[in-house]
Amino acid sequence: MSEKVYITVCLGSSCFARGNEENLNFIEEYVAKNNLDAVVDISGARCEGKCAEGPNVTINGKLYSSVTKEKIREILDNIRG
Ligand code: FES
Repeated sequence: MSEKVYITVCLGSSCFARGNEENLNFIEEYVAKNNLDAVVDISGARCEGKCAEGPNVTINGKLYSSVTKEKIREILDNIRG
């Protein structure tokens, strides 16, 4: 994976309570474990008004809803090829 990957985790109270706290921890662990600090840019976002579908995570501009750790692992594994 050489191109930069931008991950935005919704940290609004609904998404955060519904799983993004864990998801964020998982992403940070995944990045550290795979030495991806240089290519993965993690940021937080405020509530995006899509709480009902949360927890929401945006990866390279694509919004993923009802995100679980498994789903994030799958997406990141795919991006890494
Ligand atoms: S808290 Fe994430 S969309 Fe509202």
